[in-house]
Amino acid sequence: MTSTVTQTSGQPAPSRPVRERVFSGIQPSGASHLGNYLGAQVNYVKLQDEYDTIYGIVDLHALTTVHDGEEMRRLSHEMVLDLLAVGLDPERCALIRQSDLPEHAELAWIFNTVVPVGWVERTPTYKEKREQGVDNTMGLLDYPVLQAADIVIYKASRVPVGKDQAAHLELSREIVRAFNRRYGPIFPEPQPVYTDAPIVLGTDGQRKMSKSAGNTIPIFAEPDEIRKIVMNMVTDPQRIKRTDPGRPEICNVCQLHRFFGADYLQIQDGERTARTGCVDTKQLLAERIIEHFRPMKAKRDQLAANPDHVEEVLAAGAAKVRPILEATMAEVHAAVGIGPKRR
Ligand code: TYM
Repeated sequence: MTSTVTQTSGQPAPSRPVRERVFSGIQPSGASHLGNYLGAQVNYVKLQDEYDTIYGIVDLHALTTVHDGEEMRRLSHEMVLDLLAVGLDPERCALIRQSDLPEHAELAWIFNTVVPVGWVERTPTYKEKREQGVDNTMGLLDYPVLQAADIVIYKASRVPVGKDQAAHLELSREIVRAFNRRYGPIFPEPQPVYTDAPIVLGTDGQRKMSKSAGNTIPIFAEPDEIRKIVMNMVTDPQRIKRTDPGRPEICNVCQLHRFFGADYLQIQDGERTARTGCVDTKQLLAERIIEHFRPMKAKRDQLAANPDHVEEVLAAGAAKVRPILEATMAEVHAAVGIGPKRR
């Protein structure tokens, strides 16, 4: 981690990281899936080389959907293993558990006093989740405010996320602007960093791939499980017979091939001309997914054999970020006038 710069003369100016900082969070609400990987995790790994990177297991967010304590602990543990296996290196990034650092929730509360209710009520994900049957709690409504706090408590300016998070990032910027207008220029406006993947569709070919929709391809499932899931994917509904020409732009199996081989244009052409059938295309996709994740899965199995490793990584992550977050909260306390007065 690099340090932050603070001005020493005149009015105290907000501290800014020397190297641009990156933050992103992932909910421990289920196993990592292809949407998480292609939309976000690929960039988590890449950005470690260029930025100060902090990644969070956002268990406070996951409380909106995971309601069993044992299960929450297990899922948080598993998510750390997933992130290490895809390539996060605790030497180059800080891997944290949100609930270990209660200042995230404190800053979210302070933001709550700035955010008009209408802003969060309008968030598309709030509507989506309610339609999926998620309990309509204060936590669900407040979800994007806590997300904004997660990011800016580290003054992170870049946020690797999938394109489904565009509205949340826009709201984070609005919250920062509202806070800075009231109290002075403390926070930078965070910008999303996207991969070249679109919002990845689920195995139903219709809805976004998501744990809550139950339409995921978990990246670390056993090979036979991946084969079974991929073979059951919905393809082009108009392609009834093997001889019918397919529409690769509609078929999610064809679309996913883009990410697992340089020959995807030929694969798409095979579908369009009915040279190949859906079964062939699915079998090939399943094998390519399995091959792609095989070395990561081997690493994951190795890491899982040491049950203490995860907690050690999280403790080191929390120790690394604590000075950053304490500095931000001192600035915030001074600006809003809470807590003991510092000289
Ligand atoms: P979560 O756990 O739902 O998703 C984690 C990441 O995976 C991306 N993602 C997808 N990308 C493309 N296609 C999909 N089908 C797909 N499904 C998931 C998400 O965009 C996300 O980047 N709200 C965040 C969690 C969060 C957060 C934060 C993110 C809490 N605080 C601060 C960034 C910064 C979320 O969607 O988690």
